[in-house]
Amino acid sequence: MKKVLIATDKPFAPVAVEGIKKVFDNAGYQTVLLEKYTEVSQFLEAVADVDGLIIRSDIASAEVLNAAKNLKIVVRAGAGYDNIDLDACTKKGVVAMNTPGQNSNAVAELAFGMMIYAIRNAFDGSSGSELRGKKIGIHAYGNVGRYVAMIAKGFGMDIYAFDPFVKKEDIEKDGVKVLGSVEELYKTCKFVSLHIPANDKTKKSINFNLLSLMPKGAVLVNTARKEVIDEDGLIKLMEERQDFKYLSDIVPDKAADMTSKFAGRVVFTAKKMGAQTSEANINAGIAAAEQIVAFLEKGDAKFKVN
Ligand code: 3PG
Repeated sequence: MKKVLIATDKPFAPVAVEGIKKVFDNAGYQTVLLEKYTEVSQFLEAVADVDGLIIRSDIASAEVLNAAKNLKIVVRAGAGYDNIDLDACTKKGVVAMNTPGQNSNAVAELAFGMMIYAIRNAFDGSSGSELRGKKIGIHAYGNVGRYVAMIAKGFGMDIYAFDPFVKKEDIEKDGVKVLGSVEELYKTCKFVSLHIPANDKTKKSINFNLLSLMPKGAVLVNTARKEVIDEDGLIKLMEERQDFKYLSDIVPDKAADMTSKFAGRVVFTAKKMGAQTSEANINAGIAAAEQIVAFLEKGDAKFKVN
């Protein structure tokens, strides 16, 4: 009997776990659940004899992969797979996949929740501002970026995007204006919503020079990855610009410093919350389970990323 481990430090909603189990029950697989683990050793032990693995932001390091003697496939139930050691997967002949698009709406909705919270001054009774008529820049027009555009339209925002990997026409058909450079995007937009992945090219790329271009009253929303921000540059900028707000769904490394220096201008969620809805958990979790069954039964590797 094939065995699949769901290893989630931040658990899926119970209804999503039920749905995942059902997919594996129907395939005749055994499901093992490891939630809220505190030590890597628990992960290493649980993964030892499984054929498949579902994770979220959990780290699938070379150590984890080497401990998984029978592993054939690991699926990151979500978009970003920077938490998987892809080289180690490839060396071991393990297929790595993600579930693109499945949790995107949840992330996009949170970006707006954070923007409204910030521009209404954390609902403290003082007079805030509105999104209508304001310029929003979508930095990277993937699945989340697309949902951000859709929601921004509902708010009556003026929508811009920059993404060198997506065809101009494909962005423009959504009623979004395409800008030719990242600098132009930051110069034009009071609100910028970040949706770039964390990789060698993007790490620390959101830096002092780029952020300095943003207009007065700038709001940077990061529901992507903390690694893409040059935190020293951001701190320097926020020291110089009292008008600048930073909202992040990932607690920055220098969170304590930022919170003490920029009270009221920074908002950080306690844990990455973008994809933490039952809908997103069901979509991404069940997609991951179905991808595992499709791969193990039919060799279907459609969402392979290594
Ligand atoms: C993703 O890459 O899909 C998001 O960052 C969500 O991550 P999570 O599943 O750990 O909440």
